[in-house]
Amino acid sequence: MSPPPPLKITLVAACALIDGDGRVLVAQRPEGKALAGLWEFPGGKVEPGERPEQTLIRELDEELGVTVKEACLAPLTFASYPYETFHLLMPLWICRRWEGVIQKKEHQALQWLRAGRLRDIPMPPADEPLIPALIDLLGP
Ligand code: C5P
Repeated sequence: MSPPPPLKITLVAACALIDGDGRVLVAQRPEGKALAGLWEFPGGKVEPGERPEQTLIRELDEELGVTVKEACLAPLTFASYPYETFHLLMPLWICRRWEGVIQKKEHQALQWLRAGRLRDIPMPPADEPLIPALIDLLGP
């Protein structure tokens, strides 16, 4: 028997916005989408021809209404998770500076949490392994 075909790789760029108190922004996935109701780091799928940093700049504008400069994005860590129908690769950036007021444009809700509190909310299984790097950086 031949081995199963390899899973398609999906590349999603994600960003932890960090406020002046060292808290992290998480966003609740919309109704009707996969993993609805779970809390994620904002971001989205890297479209053909985009660099992930460009994806983030586009997605942070579309989802939150903020303008981020590429120089304000710093890579932190990387998630790799085998969902049933695709394999997700998801690098996580952090960002402490943006322009504009954060608005809830696509998500059900937004909240700012200390990094240690991220363990208390339901997140997609791909996002959970990113939490320790944020705790190392920001404290619990
Ligand atoms: O956000 P979007 O639905 O385009 O993301 C594609 C898929 O990547 C989702 O269905 C979900 O399985 C996964 N994902 C994730 N964690 C995120 C964003 C997306 O696991 N923060």
